[in-house]
Amino acid sequence: MARDFTSVGVVGLGTMGAGIVEVFARNGVDVVAVEVSEDALERGRAILTGSTDRAVAKGKLAEADRDALLSRVRFAVGLDALHSVDLVIEAVPEHLDLKQRIFAELDRVCKPEAILATNTSSLSVTEISVATSRPNQVIGIHFFNPAPVMKLVEVVRTVVTSTDVVADVEALCKRLGKVDVTISDRAGFIANALLFGYLNHAVGMFEAHYATREDIDAAMKLGCGLPMGPLALMDLIGLDTAYEILDTMYRRGGRDRRHAPVPLIKQMVTAGLLGRKSGRGFYTYERPGSPVVVPDEQTPVASEAASGGAAAIAKVGVVGSGTMATGIIEVFAKAGYEVVSVTRGAEKSAKVFEAVKTSLNKGVVRGKLSEADRDAALGRINWSATLEHLADVDLVVEAVVEELSVKKALFASLDEICKPGVVLATTTSSLPVIDVAMATQRPADVVGLHFFNPAPVMPLVEVVETIRTSPETTATARAVCAGLGKTGVVCGDRSGFIVNALLFPYLNDAVKMLEASYSTADDIDHAMKLGCGYPMGPFELLDVVGLDVSLAIQRELYLELREPGFAPAPLLEHLVTAGYLGRKSGRGFRDHTRR
Ligand SMILES: NC(=O)c1ccc[n+]([C@@H]2O[C@H](COP(=O)([O-])OP(=O)(O)OC[C@H]3O[C@@H](n4cnc5c(N)ncnc54)[C@H](O)[C@@H]3O)[C@@H](O)[C@H]2O)c1
Repeated sequence: MARDFTSVGVVGLGTMGAGIVEVFARNGVDVVAVEVSEDALERGRAILTGSTDRAVAKGKLAEADRDALLSRVRFAVGLDALHSVDLVIEAVPEHLDLKQRIFAELDRVCKPEAILATNTSSLSVTEISVATSRPNQVIGIHFFNPAPVMKLVEVVRTVVTSTDVVADVEALCKRLGKVDVTISDRAGFIANALLFGYLNHAVGMFEAHYATREDIDAAMKLGCGLPMGPLALMDLIGLDTAYEILDTMYRRGGRDRRHAPVPLIKQMVTAGLLGRKSGRGFYTYERPGSPVVVPDEQTPVASEAASGGAAAIAKVGVVGSGTMATGIIEVFAKAGYEVVSVTRGAEKSAKVFEAVKTSLNKGVVRGKLSEADRDAALGRINWSATLEHLADVDLVVEAVVEELSVKKALFASLDEICKPGVVLATTTSSLPVIDVAMATQRPADVVGLHFFNPAPVMPLVEVVETIRTSPETTATARAVCAGLGKTGVVCGDRSGFIVNALLFPYLNDAVKMLEASYSTADDIDHAMKLGCGYPMGPFELLDVVGLDVSLAIQRELYLELREPGFAPAPLLEHLVTAGYLGRKSGRGFRDHTRR
C-alpha cells in the first residue's frame, strides 16, 4: 500500500524551501519548516506570507484558505523538530558537505521509515544518500522556481533507491498537482543540464559587452517566446545558487567548458549581488525579495534612443522576392513607409504583390486592418525590377538568397546607385555582416537587420553592428525598428547573433541527451515546458524549425567559435541524412504523418 504522507519537513526556507512549504500546505499537508537560526526563520516566514498575500491580492487564493494554509505550517529552528514527519525535503545551499552533514543528522533524528529527499539541482543524490544509514530511502525531489507555480518535479532515483519509495513519491507529486519525470542521478538532471549552459553563455555575452542586459533578455523573450530572459532568470534563481550549480555541473558533467562559471558571476556573488533575494543582481529591484525592477545606471534612457543621431527614414527599398522579403515589404508598407520593391522580374513582382495582398486581406478578415488601410498600404508599394529605382530611398533592406557572393555583388551595386548617407541593411541570418559591408565604399552605413519569420508577426529584430558600423547607422536602424512597432536589439557581428547563438546549442544538447538514452523526447519536452515555462519543448521546436536548418546553424556556430560542446549531435546529422527533416518532411523526432 502506498505511504500516506500526512506531515512533511522542509529544511532551509530560502528561495526554494519557502515555496516548497507553500506547495505542501496548499495541498492539505502539515509542514514542519526548519531553519538554521531565528533570523533565517523570520526571513523564510516572510517569503511564505509575502507569496500567499500576493496570491490573495490577485484573487487566486481566498483569505480563509490562506489562513488555513498558514495554520498547517509549524516553524522551528533545528532539525530535532522533524522527529515525527513522514518525509523531509532538504533545500539548503548547494554544498555537498553541508547537505551530507544535514542528511547524517536527519538520519539520526527522523523515524526509521521516513523518506529523506533533497532538492539539489546538480549534486549527486547518491553521494548525499551515503551519509545516511538508509540510502534506499533517499531520493531527489527537484522542484522548479517558483515552486508554487511551476508544474514540473524531477524525481531522481539513485541505483539504491527502493522502487516503492520512487512509486510513493511519484504518487505524492500527483497529489500536489505536479507532473513528475523520473530519472537517474546525473548532474543537472534534465532541465538544468539543458538550461545552465545557455544561462552561462548569456552571462558571457553580457560580460563581453556583446549586447546589453535588456537586449539579451528581450531577444530571448521576443525571439523564442520564453517567459523570462536569461539574465532576469539568473536573478530569480540567485547568483550564488547558479554559481554552485554551474561549478558542480562543470566538475561532474565531464568538464564541459560551457559550464565553467563565467568570472563575472563569481565577482557578483562576492560583491553580494545575488539577484532578487538581495535586491540587486543583473538588475536592481525595489527591495530585497521584490520582483519589481527599478531603473539604475545601466537602464537605457528612453530619449537616448530617440535622439541618438538617427536619420529620418521615409522611403525604403526592399530587394528580394522570397518569404522574408515579402513579409518585410508588408511590415514597412503597413507602418506607413513608402516602399520600393525590387525583384528580378515582373513575374516575381506579381507573385510578391499577390502574397502581400493575401496576407493583408487576412488581417482585414480578422478585423485587425480596415479595407482602407489595406488599400493605403498596397498603394505605398512601388514594384520594380531594376535596382536603379533605389536611387532616392533612405534605407535599403536586402533579403536575397543566403549566398555571400550574391549579397556582395548586390551591395557593390547599391553602393553605386544609392545616394550618400543611406543605410544599407542585410537580413542575413548566418553570414558575417562585415563581409557584405566591405563590398561597399561605405561600410559605416551598413548594418544587419535580422527579422524573424514570419516578419509581420514576430516582434523582434536583431540590429547587427559590425566593427565599422557608425553609431548613427545603428541609431537609425533601431529607430526604424521602433517605427515598425518592433523591438530592435543591438548585438555584435558574430555567428548566430543573440537568439540563434543561445537557442541552437541548447537544442543540440537536448539531442545529445536523447542520444545518450538519459531520457525520452517526451519527458525532455515536458521538462522544459513545465519546469522552465518554455512554449515548446526542444524536440517539438526542432521539428518545426527543420532538422536540416538546425544542423546548418549549429555547424556554423561550431565552425566560428570552435567550441567543442557546440559540435553537432551525431543523431541530428543521421536524421538529416535519413531525410527526417521535421514537419516539412512528415517525420523528424516524431512521426507527423499519423496525426
Ligand atoms: N534557486 C533555484 O532556482 C533552485 C531551483 C531548484 C532547486 N534549487 C536547489 O534548492 C536548494 C536551495 O537553494 P535556494 O536557491 O533555495 O538557496 P537559498 O540560499 O535561497 O536558501 C537556502 C536556505 O537554507 C538555509 N540553511 C542554510 N544552512 C541550513 C541548515 N543547516 N539548516 C537549515 N537551513 C539552512 C539558509 O538560511 C537559507 O535560507 C539548492 O540545493 C539548490 O540547488 C534551487
